Amino acid sequence: MLIKCFIPFPILETERLILRLVEDRDAEQLYEILSDAEVAKFDYFYPVTSKEQVLKFIERYKKEIEENEEITWGIILKETNKLIGTCCLGSFDEGARRGELGYDIAQVKWGKGYATEALEAVIDYGFDIMNLNRIEATITPGNDASVKVLSKLNFIQEGVVRERDLIKGKLEDGIMMSILKRDYIKKSRE
Ligand SMILES: CC(C)(COP(=O)(O)OP(=O)(O)OC[C@H]1O[C@@H](n2cnc3c(N)ncnc32)[C@H](O)[C@@H]1OP(=O)(O)O)[C@@H](O)C(=O)NCCC(=O)NCCS
Repeated sequence: MLIKCFIPFPILETERLILRLVEDRDAEQLYEILSDAEVAKFDYFYPVTSKEQVLKFIERYKKEIEENEEITWGIILKETNKLIGTCCLGSFDEGARRGELGYDIAQVKWGKGYATEALEAVIDYGFDIMNLNRIEATITPGNDASVKVLSKLNFIQEGVVRERDLIKGKLEDGIMMSILKRDYIKKSRE
């Protein structure tokens, strides 16, 4: 059975990061991320242009959590206690025990291993606490950094799903990547 219960909010901790609920006090840092055209490049959303839009994102994260629809963590750098990104699990299929991963990191923090470190904790949570069987992500071709992160986390590239996602008005293919619980268990015991 899939365990979807996000209240109280599950705070996760890694060596350099705390993963917690995104709050209104994170709006400034979240604005930096969501207003960056490079961050939004391969995603469905257009870069935001106002703080109000950011607050709407935060409101939506909270609503999705209350409705057990999707869980978004704010990625907080312990060193500064500031938000440097977000990551989420959503699009759940209860019967198949499947969920989809999403993530972004502030451009100034790219290439320091933060996405890999945060997602490792989220994947642990998905398999150990939620009892997911499969975690997947679809990546727009060209987003090589994203493919690299998931490859480092032992995701397998399964193929290209044609015209899967509407990215800024254009239907784009998606590289389907996934990890199964049995592979995750096997790898963590090696
Ligand atoms: C994808 C993203 C989250 C990665 O965050 P990050 O914190 O920089 O990731 P990490 O540092 O953990 O790992 C990135 C890896 O990709 C590599 N990489 C970076 N740019 C690359 C590129 N253009 N081509 C190939 N590899 C690349 C890095 O070298 C690193 O690998 P390494 O550890 O072996 O050196 C970040 O680039 C981002 O926020 N992008 C915009 C949003 C996005 O695309 N989200 C994913 C949607 S599917």
